[in-house]
Amino acid sequence: MEQTDPRLATLVAAVQAGASYRSIAVGVIERVGRESLQRYPSLKAAIKATKTRLHQMIGAYTEDRPPYRQWLAELQQVADEMARKAVCRRLLAGHASTRERLPVLEHLYPACFGDSPPQRVLDLGCGLHPLAVPWMHLPPNAYYAAYDIDTALCAFLHEALPLLGVRGEAAICDLMLGPPPVSADVALVLKTIPLLEQQRRGAGADLLRAIQAPRLVVSFPTRSLGGRNVGMATTYRGYMDALTAAEGWSPRVIELPNELVFVIERHTPSRSRM
Ligand SMILES: C[S@@+](CC[C@H](N)C(=O)[O-])C[C@H]1O[C@@H](n2cnc3c(N)ncnc32)[C@H](O)[C@@H]1O
Repeated sequence: MEQTDPRLATLVAAVQAGASYRSIAVGVIERVGRESLQRYPSLKAAIKATKTRLHQMIGAYTEDRPPYRQWLAELQQVADEMARKAVCRRLLAGHASTRERLPVLEHLYPACFGDSPPQRVLDLGCGLHPLAVPWMHLPPNAYYAAYDIDTALCAFLHEALPLLGVRGEAAICDLMLGPPPVSADVALVLKTIPLLEQQRRGAGADLLRAIQAPRLVVSFPTRSLGGRNVGMATTYRGYMDALTAAEGWSPRVIELPNELVFVIERHTPSRSRM
């Protein structure tokens, strides 16, 4: 059995002392910390490396800690679908990743799902994206399962999902260790593959292969957070071309102003159902 480095607890405590890392699931801090301790002999260097990697995974996409309690209160008060959309639109504007999707919300989901909206949805590395549920036209009784590594975000989403009109859950899942062990009609993996590939080459492709869903909606940013276009579309198109050719998948590509979306239909044996 692998021995735990006795310095791991000190490293985790040092990382959690930083406000930006406090809500990251402790298992994720431990995983990244363990890898950093193996790579850097000095504890100080390992702590720094852990923070840098966690920042790349989550920090760059979050702004100040959102007022989740207040957001829930606002969602609880909406009187109809129009009011719900107005609140969600405002909340989606609070996250860099979802803000830039606002202009295309009305068209994106019909383009992805066609005339068969899914009954069961997985949203992996979800961020605030579940707040777009009101635009998805999901059938009554749809089940939405959202996963991320931020505990405060997941707690908020778990309470928010019924207020968005779906049954569901939001839970912690470190995608570097694989997808959650549940199947669905569609898995949304939006703008998260580059973060996984940054941590381990091949991790994003491994995840997509392992997901238990016949339809994948996978997207990539085509502009950096600073708004520059640095050949990202070409890079990610090449990445997906290689993967889909190797797997025999034939994706449909949707080009958004800041995002490249691949819709992949495939056949997978289903195991445990949600
Ligand atoms: C660029 S944001 C995308 C958010 C959302 N999918 C969207 O497109 O609006 C990337 C998300 O992946 C999450 N993430 C990063 N590394 C992860 C990991 N190893 N496992 C699960 N989620 C991860 C981050 O916390 C963040 O919410």
